Amino acid sequence: MKKLYIATYGCQMNVYDSGRITDLLAPLGYAPTASAEDADLVILNTCHIREKATEKVYSELGKLKLVKDRGAREGRSVFIGVAGCVAQAEGAEILARQPAVDIVVGPQSYHRLPVLIDRLLRSEERTVELDFPAQEKFDALPQHRSASAPAAFLTIQEGCDKFCTFCVVPYTRGTEFSRPVVKIEQEARQLASRGVRELTLLGQNVNAYRGEGPDGKAWNLARLIGRLATIPSVERLRYTTSHPRDMTADLIAAHRDETKLMPYLHLPVQSGSDRMLKAMNRGHNRDSYLRLVEEVRRARTDLALSSDFIVGFPGETDADFEATLDLVKQVCFAQAFSFKYSARPGTPASGMEGQVPENVKSERLLILQALITGHARVFNAAMYDRVLPVLFDRKGRLPGQAAGRSPYLQPVHVDGAAPYIGEIHDVRISKVLPNSLHGELIKAEIGAAN
Ligand code: 5AD
Ligand code: SF4
Repeated sequence: MKKLYIATYGCQMNVYDSGRITDLLAPLGYAPTASAEDADLVILNTCHIREKATEKVYSELGKLKLVKDRGAREGRSVFIGVAGCVAQAEGAEILARQPAVDIVVGPQSYHRLPVLIDRLLRSEERTVELDFPAQEKFDALPQHRSASAPAAFLTIQEGCDKFCTFCVVPYTRGTEFSRPVVKIEQEARQLASRGVRELTLLGQNVNAYRGEGPDGKAWNLARLIGRLATIPSVERLRYTTSHPRDMTADLIAAHRDETKLMPYLHLPVQSGSDRMLKAMNRGHNRDSYLRLVEEVRRARTDLALSSDFIVGFPGETDADFEATLDLVKQVCFAQAFSFKYSARPGTPASGMEGQVPENVKSERLLILQALITGHARVFNAAMYDRVLPVLFDRKGRLPGQAAGRSPYLQPVHVDGAAPYIGEIHDVRISKVLPNSLHGELIKAEIGAAN
């Protein structure tokens, strides 16, 4: 057996892709290992979304060069691959900047890794593969997945046609592509047969999903969710990441009608200022977003919302930033991610006037994050003494503990271990900690909850 080490950066889709790369390479005799030090093949599955993420790749590659050199001294070949969005964006530049890299493969061409590795083993020829055949990739991936955790990701849509002016995704992941319903259902059923109870449907613009249905017509996300909800052992469905423009009436209705759809929605808004939203080319404004929030909350009263924010977008004034704070105060997100604007090469915003100084961005980020954290604390504190269904998916930090996730993705720990893993049980929350909840299992529910 040869050893494979994959380091995954960035979004959940990269996590999905890394899993698929592992599945692809298993027939070649590669088994996963937990450390790069003893690996025969190391793959960095990279993210290009912000400059920091990209720079991290090069510093990791510097360390991996030492691993490769040590291997060579011991008479062992260590191969290094760069996959993901940095690979797509920088291509052959990576080979030039770091001679230790053997393979550069983009997010739409990683199904070609077995061929590229074979070529490498035979001729040590370095390669760059950056084609965009999304359909071909999914067709070429193995039917079976080795996933055994109770919660799994499933990519249903990839790429983006929205072209927000700050974002690299349309360039790294390509144009929007939706997988056919039948293929998604097959993968979901196979995962269910391996004990998966919760599926998170993934796409860069997941609610823009329009895949071919079994009837040959285009199906939207609401319809796909309805179909997947018929798989008996799949008890929970989620989807991410959504664009406000694609929250259709029937998707909102699905939040009301489909009990398996978890009451949690990640709906990035990026800014609360109309001026900024326009400059970002978001295709929605502050009011339309707030109205949408009202609508989804009306459809499902216990729905929790999360979001993404960018501070310091070119031209952002104090008043624009205040508008963002004001929107946050109006919505009260259960959780949210916020980032300093990072100029990405080739995107329209990187050349815009009015780039905001780093210290201003840092100040705004601190203020925004403090506000968001305060709301998240209030949201979590409200869980005290509530009974939440928890999908147990791992052992807890302490011996004898089991851990899982609430419908709102909060980590929940209970005393009492392994028998619950892969099961959903009701838990009464007895302690609210800064980053997790603690509770007691409602014993009468064991067995019945499943
Ligand atoms: N700079 C900072 N944050 C960004 N994001 C996307 N592009 C950039 C950028 N250039 C953020 C957005 C997006 C999240 C995944 O990353 O908020 O929703
Ligand atoms: Fe990063 Fe975006 Fe690529 Fe995901 S799709 S890895 S977030 S650049």
